Amino acid sequence: MQTLQATFKKIFQTEATLAVFSPGRVNLIGEHTDYNGGHVFPCALSFGTYALVSKRNDQKYRFYSMNFPSKGIVSGTLDTLINTKEDDWANYPKGVIDVFQKRYEIFANGFDVLFYGNIPNGAGLSSSASLELAMAVVLRELFTLKITMVDMVKMSQEAENVFIGVKCGIMDQFAIGMGKKNHAILLNCNTLSYRYSPLQLANYKIVISNTNKRRGLADSKYNERRQETTQALTALQKVIEITSLGDLAPNEFEAIADVLGSERIRRRAKHAVYENARTLAAVEALEHNQLTTFGQLMIESHKSLRDDYEVTGEELDVLVSCALKQPGVIGSRMTGAGFGGCSVSIVASDQIVNFQQNVAAEYAKIIGYEPTFYVADIADGTKKISLNSTEKIVEEV
Ligand code: GLA
Repeated sequence: MQTLQATFKKIFQTEATLAVFSPGRVNLIGEHTDYNGGHVFPCALSFGTYALVSKRNDQKYRFYSMNFPSKGIVSGTLDTLINTKEDDWANYPKGVIDVFQKRYEIFANGFDVLFYGNIPNGAGLSSSASLELAMAVVLRELFTLKITMVDMVKMSQEAENVFIGVKCGIMDQFAIGMGKKNHAILLNCNTLSYRYSPLQLANYKIVISNTNKRRGLADSKYNERRQETTQALTALQKVIEITSLGDLAPNEFEAIADVLGSERIRRRAKHAVYENARTLAAVEALEHNQLTTFGQLMIESHKSLRDDYEVTGEELDVLVSCALKQPGVIGSRMTGAGFGGCSVSIVASDQIVNFQQNVAAEYAKIIGYEPTFYVADIADGTKKISLNSTEKIVEEV
């Protein structure tokens, strides 16, 4: 925190008066179900985005990210917020301010904000949603806004959908805003009803493995999947009254799936329906301490994402199959949007060192470079933190 404060002073020539932390997220099961009206089961992580802030007397905003020092200070005035290519990462907080100002009014004061994130870059652990929620909580604190976290979650998703133009579902923003230490969240993405489920994993830990693959086409492929399941829903609605694929149980789906002429569209819809059922079964298993069943459902989830939804790719498939060969692993699957990014595995605590060594060696032999591993520490959602924190934050600048 001292490093962050000193950097703030150096960049903005003034003292920070407020600090906010916003986590990253990992999803345990329920993938590509959020925008299909199904359930997800994510949790917030202890790494994330820090924001240090001070209010200004004019209506200017100035942003600086310690992760992108070459971009320098990004600045502008609160009455002209537009998405520009050169503003790059800063479009996320700008988008959130824009959505807030449409709901309230243009803020009377501007602000200087320093960001620092320790979420591994491009890992698919939601650094963008983390940044959005950090900005939202900064605005709530600076202007003492009476607003709920769920509202800020929705407004952050709107910023991403409209200002940024990525048609993501609600999962990432919800997990990040509403996260709870040592709990995962079972969220119904249709109704936004949710409950916390304690992560009692006995002698097991959640290990995140990063493919370290450079992600390229992820956004366009993501939007393509959305379009395919929307097409499936429209066709199914001709024979059954449903508002989303999440309304269908697997047997109900099978009874009417023939109306989906295209085999590809049928597989996409099948994934959404079965993954939703798997998610509910997995949470039930976890809550009854049936970890093996939970792990088995994770494995089935990966297969469905690989064969029916086709969002895994060689790197994730190799990572997961290497993981499943290791002793002490009860489940492993891709997590997040896919096409690269990370996998999530449940590994016996006393096998983690072995796991990392063996998976790294085998993966590197096939893919040509090594993966990176993080043992997940499940944390709270976005919140104000003390400016005097002594916790070690800055790992590399
Ligand atoms: C990305 C999106 C989420 C969700 C996942 C897939 O992370 O931002 O809304 O759709 O992919 O489950």
